[in-house]
Amino acid sequence: TGMITIDPGFKNTGSCESAITFLDGEKGILRYRGYSIEELAEKADFLEVAYLLIFGELPNQEELHKFHNDIKGESHVDEEMKKILDGFPKSAHPMGVLTSLTSALIAFNPSSVNVTSEKEMYWAIVRILAKFPVLVSWTLRKKKGLPLDYGDDTLGYVENIHKMMFKRPNHKYEKNKVVIDALDKLLILHADHEQNCSTSTVRMVGSSHAGLFASLSAGIAALWGPLHGGANQAVLEMLEAIEADGGDTKKYMSKAKDKNDPFRLMGFGHRVYKNFDPRAKIIKKAADEVLGDLGVEDPILDIAKGLEKEALSDKYFVDRKLYPNVDFYSGIIYRALGIPTEMFTVMFALGRLPGWIAQWREMRLKNEPIGRPRQVYIGHASREFVAVDKR
Ligand code: CMC
Repeated sequence: TGMITIDPGFKNTGSCESAITFLDGEKGILRYRGYSIEELAEKADFLEVAYLLIFGELPNQEELHKFHNDIKGESHVDEEMKKILDGFPKSAHPMGVLTSLTSALIAFNPSSVNVTSEKEMYWAIVRILAKFPVLVSWTLRKKKGLPLDYGDDTLGYVENIHKMMFKRPNHKYEKNKVVIDALDKLLILHADHEQNCSTSTVRMVGSSHAGLFASLSAGIAALWGPLHGGANQAVLEMLEAIEADGGDTKKYMSKAKDKNDPFRLMGFGHRVYKNFDPRAKIIKKAADEVLGDLGVEDPILDIAKGLEKEALSDKYFVDRKLYPNVDFYSGIIYRALGIPTEMFTVMFALGRLPGWIAQWREMRLKNEPIGRPRQVYIGHASREFVAVDKR
């Protein structure tokens, strides 16, 4: 097998052909099914984008209505699931809880496991799009000590998610358009990003014909890492640390450049974008708008902007083409919306859900073979066994 080439991190290896997301890292272009991310973030809502990613076309009114109604009809989560949530300590990280709850859903929805026909796939997809937001809201509510609740099917998809997360007992829920629009935009910007670590995980697990929910649960676990989706939490913690340290951005820049220091400037750099991350541009602008509209003044935003400015004119960062990525400014908006830092990556998962689903569906419909990379063995050659008393 001398023909095997090793490509750690798959930097130059394509794993599939896909018609879902186009990404040009040099030019900073991102398109879902041919539509630019800038236009979708501005004009579409998250459920439309989910439909587009999964089924390939923007839905018309009737299709969107049916899709939403099907989702509403599946939005219950078995009450027994609450016992599983009860078993976790309040201090548990929301991403760990979410991965586990998503796995647990398999046991409560056996008909969604071994799906093969398009129709079965459709219903598994509808079920997870309906139930996942409930799990997300329960994860947050458990942390806050709030009663667990279900959705309100008179509301839009994202509005309902917001209400499920934030509704307080004995308080009327007030819809806030600025907040809902900001959430919509953030979820759209996170909805797909072709063969990133978590998506590749979903495809890999799904390639063994493990079910959709099992594949998603694995994807959520992959997303958690600080080099991937976990970066949004890490960015905010970094910005807070800089603030607590008197706003000394220079010190952290030096740390990031020091090869003997494992510290990296979180929210900077990207495997594919070597010019800029188009999502970061949109999010930076949105952060300014949302904070302005909500009347929030956050010193962290100034620190982020200062850090960006310094990095963009620093030889180390310029030479390595390190630009702010999607995670750099998103946390500042989540924070302004009242979402706790530990929940940031959960919000990323909520946004990425349609992308994972679309990629899983595409893979299954194309009947792709099981994912099974090769290796080059570099261990011992054949050795003779030595009994334990002779070693
Ligand atoms: N701070 C300081 N140095 C960095 C950073 C950073 N954030 N990112 C990359 N570098 C340096 C790295 O040390 C290396 O330097 P050298 O060539 O001297 O050894 C060079 O830049 C290339 O980096 P790499 O690690 O080989 O690049 P990669 O494609 O394997 O990693 C990355 C990409 C995103 C994991 C990395 O840039 C990183 O760790 N960034 C910080 C974490 C982060 O923000 N992740 C979110 C990614 S975007 C959304 C998502 O996936 O969730």
